[in-house]
Amino acid sequence: MNDADLDVHMNDRDLARMLAVDAAAGLTASPKWLPPKWFYDARGSVLFEEITRLPEYYPTRAERAVLTARADEIAARTGAKTLIELGSGSSDKTRLLLDALRAHGTLGTFVPLDVSESALRESVAAITADYPALQVRGVVGDFTRHLRFLPRGGTRMVAFLGGTIGNLLPAPRARLLADLRDLLEPGEWLLLGADLVKDPAVLVPAYADARGVTAEFNRNVLHVLNRQLRADFDPAAFHHVARWDPVNEWIEMRLRADRAMTVKLPELDETIEFDAGEELLTEVSAKFRRDGLAAELAAAGFALRDWWTDPAGLFSLSLSRAAPR
Ligand code: SAH
Ligand code: TRP
Repeated sequence: MNDADLDVHMNDRDLARMLAVDAAAGLTASPKWLPPKWFYDARGSVLFEEITRLPEYYPTRAERAVLTARADEIAARTGAKTLIELGSGSSDKTRLLLDALRAHGTLGTFVPLDVSESALRESVAAITADYPALQVRGVVGDFTRHLRFLPRGGTRMVAFLGGTIGNLLPAPRARLLADLRDLLEPGEWLLLGADLVKDPAVLVPAYADARGVTAEFNRNVLHVLNRQLRADFDPAAFHHVARWDPVNEWIEMRLRADRAMTVKLPELDETIEFDAGEELLTEVSAKFRRDGLAAELAAAGFALRDWWTDPAGLFSLSLSRAAPR
């Protein structure tokens, strides 16, 4: 189903099928795991926006501070004509880039891509209304599968904000960066927002807030499984766990079963047993250091051009250029 402003490459049936494949693999593995993109149905996207406003969740505010300080410089440096945004969500902070690129006089097209059709519909409508001269084309898709549907030509900048790069494990992360390099022509741009390694006393509360919004967001994946795969998880019987892994330098989000449980997934012909206290890994959020990220970018064929942080040094924004092949 397409309409004027939106290309939909994943309908509800595709989503259910992909979720079934992931759930069959992850829930029968030991330890059990699920890939994080399944948090973001309509309710998950609303809960994430609530997370961005929590006092404990510093990344959104820190990234906004860097963008506020650097958007003009980014516009002048890149002269981007097309801005592509991956995992765009509400595209709220992205408006700082749109404003700067508009003032600079180069921007013609904005292409946000997200798995969450509801979030994308809202953001495309709001941005179309507020930037009448801009061509806005939303893409409902998975950035690990659907990059080929993004537009070619023009001077493109791909923005990947919010630290979402850290939600990919190292191997898929390297693959995504290499795929992005393939998508771009030499000289085109990648603007990457990445959260930085810091004191766990700051990190952990950002993923385990006092009001329990993050816990509800984490449990939302069980509601998605219940709805899409007719599973019978009791989300209330799972506790949210956020833990700092100092070796991998990532936050792990888990759901811990309060008691032994048998969960039926009739769509998969599966019955899954949970022991009391057994944990399901739902997400990692990797934190970066400048040298490590620069090396990952270089390995994918990007040349790091600028590295900025907020004044407190919590969060990084880096601008890289696709190197010649
Ligand atoms: N960029 C926004 C939102 C970050 S939350 C910000 O900085 O605040 C992560 C976003 O990425 C969500 O909107 C989610 O729906 C989207 N997302 C997660 N996995 C994805 C995938 N595999 N493909 C496309 N979008 C994805
Ligand atoms: N990209 C966000 C991050 O890693 C996503 C996120 C924030 C998240 N809080 C979460 C994912 C809680 C799962 C659970 O910061």
